[in-house]
Amino acid sequence: MAQAIEFRHVSKRFDNGGLAVDDLSFVVEAGTIMALVGPSGCGKTTSLKMINRLIDPTGGEILVGGRSIVSTGLLELRRSLGYVIQYVGLFPHMTVAENIGVVPQLLGWPKARIQARIDELLDLVGLAPQEFRSRRPRALSGGQQQRVGVARALASDPPVLLMDEPFGALDPITRDRLQDELIQIQRKLRKTIVIVTHDMDEAVRLADRIAVLRAGKLVQIGSPAEVLAAPVDDFVADLLGRDRLLKLLRTTPVTKVMIPGGDLAMARVSEQGSLEEALLAMLASGRCDAAVHGSGGGIMGCVTAADIVRSAARR
Ligand SMILES: Nc1ncnc2c1ncn2[C@@H]1O[C@H](COP(=O)(O)OP(=O)(O)OP(=O)(O)O)[C@@H](O)[C@H]1O
Ligand SMILES: [Mg+2]
Repeated sequence: MAQAIEFRHVSKRFDNGGLAVDDLSFVVEAGTIMALVGPSGCGKTTSLKMINRLIDPTGGEILVGGRSIVSTGLLELRRSLGYVIQYVGLFPHMTVAENIGVVPQLLGWPKARIQARIDELLDLVGLAPQEFRSRRPRALSGGQQQRVGVARALASDPPVLLMDEPFGALDPITRDRLQDELIQIQRKLRKTIVIVTHDMDEAVRLADRIAVLRAGKLVQIGSPAEVLAAPVDDFVADLLGRDRLLKLLRTTPVTKVMIPGGDLAMARVSEQGSLEEALLAMLASGRCDAAVHGSGGGIMGCVTAADIVRSAARR
């Protein structure tokens, strides 16, 4: 069962003085993905670590599944949370398989079930089990270590996943694949996921909601479309990047501005496509309109460049 996560006026002041997290309040609804974004040092990792009590807040309260995390036993809490650590943090003396099997082992799963789960997860993250099972972390590239870190967090199928830049060290193709996998996993399993990322494309692609932090404070929270359409200030706009409006088109389904009509001379876009894809198809074909093709092959309608521009300007 997925569980909501709630921050209520959470603050963290480290002993040496700095306020790393400052009166943070937000809710991650059960079964949804929240992306935490913001510049280096703004408190993302600290916020994540407070959820599984690697760091204790100095003020406020955090609830998981409606219960304050201090009233849950530490072991029980950690078992319900899969954690992908920034910079991976694999146990160096353990093999890949042992690293992935840590939590199932703690939970007392039968050996055969643990072995099967390890191979299943290695496949999932694109590492051939026979090749990688018995290697040690130092014999892996950074990206391979990162994939093992993701597999380890998923091992016991926890209802909540905390991911600190889980795909940061991967090449674009592998990153794309693992993002796809995460989307698939999420469709099937509906976990509550908090993901820290520096990559705005990743946040927009994966998250149901984005929380923007600056110097420990929440400056904006909303769906990717809401944040992209109306950043609250220049700081958020800069963070979203110069292609903010293109990203916005990426989050908008083509069916949203589709009108009747369409013919085979037009550029073509699939009914599952976004406005960005429609625009790219127009650029590639030198047309200012695109026919929307249904999965059955028929033309369902069309979109025009003017309508796409209007849809972005309206926000
Ligand atoms: N154990 C600690 N003791 C003192 N200060 C700390 C400690 N851990 C973090 N900080 C400080 O708290 C602030 C927030 O750190 P945090 O690791 O949460 O940032 P972040 O948003 O994850 O940054 P990055 O994107 O670089 O990973 C920083 O100013 C950092 O120096
Ligand atoms: Mg961090």
